[in-house]
Amino acid sequence: MNKDINSVAVLGSGTMGAGIAALAADNNCKVLLLDISEDAVKKGKERIINEKKPLLSDLKNINNVEIGTFENDFHKIKNYDWICEVVVEEINIKRDIFKKIEEHRNANAIVSSNTSGIPLKDITKDMTEELLKNVCITHFFNPVEVMKLCELIPGEKTNKEIINKLSIFLSKVFNKGVVYGKDTVNFIGNRIGCFFMLKGLHEGKIARSKGISLEEIDSLLSKPIGLPPTGLYGLIDLIGLDVMHSVGKNLATNLPDNDAGLPFTKLPSEEQNLFNNKQLGRKTGGGFYRIKKLDNGKKVKETFDLDNGEWNTFKKIQIEKDLNIILEDSDLGNLVWNVMGSTLLYAADLIPEIADDILNIDRAMRWGFAWQMGPFEIIDKLGPKNVIKKCLDKNQELPKMLQALEKSGNEFFYNENMYLDLDGIYKEISN
Ligand SMILES: NC(=O)c1ccc[n+]([C@@H]2O[C@H](COP(=O)([O-])OP(=O)(O)OC[C@H]3O[C@@H](n4cnc5c(N)ncnc54)[C@H](O)[C@@H]3O)[C@@H](O)[C@H]2O)c1
Repeated sequence: MNKDINSVAVLGSGTMGAGIAALAADNNCKVLLLDISEDAVKKGKERIINEKKPLLSDLKNINNVEIGTFENDFHKIKNYDWICEVVVEEINIKRDIFKKIEEHRNANAIVSSNTSGIPLKDITKDMTEELLKNVCITHFFNPVEVMKLCELIPGEKTNKEIINKLSIFLSKVFNKGVVYGKDTVNFIGNRIGCFFMLKGLHEGKIARSKGISLEEIDSLLSKPIGLPPTGLYGLIDLIGLDVMHSVGKNLATNLPDNDAGLPFTKLPSEEQNLFNNKQLGRKTGGGFYRIKKLDNGKKVKETFDLDNGEWNTFKKIQIEKDLNIILEDSDLGNLVWNVMGSTLLYAADLIPEIADDILNIDRAMRWGFAWQMGPFEIIDKLGPKNVIKKCLDKNQELPKMLQALEKSGNEFFYNENMYLDLDGIYKEISN
């Protein structure tokens, strides 16, 4: 294939950098992988060729990768078509790297950041016009080799041509599902996904006070509503409470005034205590759940009691409910409405703020968070009229997209191969 992008410089060789470098090397790109020290970049390379779980489909593709350090090898980026910054989520560190990129890159090179949520305008503030024309966000999801989503976010001055080039490259060469977002805090997937998690923790506290257990909450907020089996607490164990804590802080600073997520950016007191005690999740050997090894070598799963601080044997609970639980008027139904229902309404109010249309939002949640259906597909399945009725019954304001649907006189967001626009007009679904 005749590619516009044949070489990729990946700056940072941690979890995500190693994944992106491996993907590029596997697709016959010339790769430069740099990190803060020789030790760090060797670890990154080791991640790529790891004996147990290599990130390459063919180990000989490691020959496509040259490694080096920021200090000694930064100048080499001038020979690369795409420079992808993947260092820690710390704005000043990213800004320093960007300044160095501008010093050394070739004028035609595309530059991107893999930040999870820092707006591009903040990373590139006061940087040269030349850089601003060539820069965007390429937000891959973890693990890079597994997750289909890559969010592509242009800045205000980004040249359309580079977005087109990257979009073709990401979809045709990297086989990713590209979703277009706006340069707003946390972009699309994490904006909606973090609302679900943070609101979920606050609603979980209320549910626990009614005697609903963590296991019940997770078994409700998973299979019955088409979400992965980790549910809420299991998902946060996977991500880490430390990450949720800093996500919350970033949201508190950067969400617009009146955003429905603002009241939930702080962790509830019990989760804050876990954070303070460094009981962060799988990375620290346990968070809400843990696997305990017994003297006889057997392993048992345990659940943390957030209210009395004790570990109890995990109780497997299977709740035989389907998506309609969202509309059910019961303790369990209200919990699901308050967590998932409000996430659907939140998503339906974020057009055009975070994305132009429902298609980009639905794809982001399916491809990045492994939801079986995106928010608008879920609303269609429930019946938008039923969701509107529930909102009215609960005295909740209708979000923008539900208002647009009502006004248009249409019944559903999707109609065969068409989707409803904010203007209330059906548009054809593109690939
Ligand atoms: N891990 C995820 O789930 C995930 C998903 C999507 C996006 N991201 C984003 O990708 C980026 C990298 O995350 P990660 O998970 O790979 O982190 P990581 O901790 O695995 O890797 C961080 C990298 O930054 C380098 N680094 C540390 N301090 C530095 C400094 N002072 N100067 C320059 N480099 C430094 C490290 O050596 C390492 O290469 C972050 O912006 C993160 O928000 C992460």
